[in-house]
Amino acid sequence: METAEFKEEQERNISYIEDVLKRFLPKAPSYQKTIYDAMEYSVMAGGKRLRPMMMYQTYKMFGGDDEKLIEPFMAAIEIIHTYSLVHDDLPAMDNDEYRRGRKTTHVVYGEDMGILAGDALLNFAYETAIRGAAAASDSKNAIRALGILSEKAGITGMVGGQVVDVELTGKKLDEKQLDFIFRLKTGALLEASLMSGAALAGADERYIALMEQAGLNIGMAFQIQDDILDITSTTSELGKPVHSDEKNEKTTYVSLYGMEKAHEDVKIYSEKALSIMKDIPFENRFLYTLIEKLINRRK
Ligand code: IPE
Ligand code: IPE
Ligand code: MG
Ligand code: MG
Ligand code: MG
Repeated sequence: METAEFKEEQERNISYIEDVLKRFLPKAPSYQKTIYDAMEYSVMAGGKRLRPMMMYQTYKMFGGDDEKLIEPFMAAIEIIHTYSLVHDDLPAMDNDEYRRGRKTTHVVYGEDMGILAGDALLNFAYETAIRGAAAASDSKNAIRALGILSEKAGITGMVGGQVVDVELTGKKLDEKQLDFIFRLKTGALLEASLMSGAALAGADERYIALMEQAGLNIGMAFQIQDDILDITSTTSELGKPVHSDEKNEKTTYVSLYGMEKAHEDVKIYSEKALSIMKDIPFENRFLYTLIEKLINRRK
């Protein structure tokens, strides 16, 4: 897809996703107002909205056209992702003070509220998705998507990856350990985005499995590039602190393999993801371009 056409479609997608998030975020606070504020503060801070975008585009790729069905799931995945960032930034984890161009949630609302905002977001994400599933005329696909989402966010997915990431912080990791961490902490939610988009559209199991493979490769490329940008970018461009990995003595893809191989592998993993997707007899040119553009992303 041409860059101008892609950019326009990407902007349209981001506005749509932000509108969905605004509509689904909770209202009518009582004594617990602080937590509503903290939730909104972290979710509405911007961000690339990559996961709901990939979910939506995959849903369309497989012929889905019911916005009422996909929207609560788009909100849910972005809210789960946001909670993972709020907790990732806590003093007990990466101890970072900026995220999405603003002070981190725990810096503004306190560490206690940072923890609780993460808890609240995670629960609210499922509340939202389950409400969507309950409203569906045929809930079978929605229940499949719920299963995918919950598994990929949990101990065999994102949380599992974060556990090993923090547990091995300060230690020299080998290739297998780093690969495991990347697949889980970053790959899992990207896999979930593609897989649940496909599941909600009623795609065959074998296509969902292929989208999982594509997601895994996108996840690897994405986290390698994240490690590269932690060294080569600036805080203002990235919206989060650079040199966070060095500060925390993390083994990164760059420290393990060197910068040159890191760049090469971003390309290799991205191309692998694309070739898997293009073998599926449904297409979405915007989604292909989105994945291609991630190779040279600067934020
Ligand atoms: C950051 O994710 C965490 C990683 C998995 C590297 P994003 O880079 O997608 O963050 P936002 O959503 O755009 O802020
Ligand atoms: C975190 O990886 C991935 C998550 C599950 C949040 P990083 O710790 O490298 O992410 P950033 O660089 O803080 O966004
Ligand atoms: Mg981290
Ligand atoms: Mg971090
Ligand atoms: Mg990082």
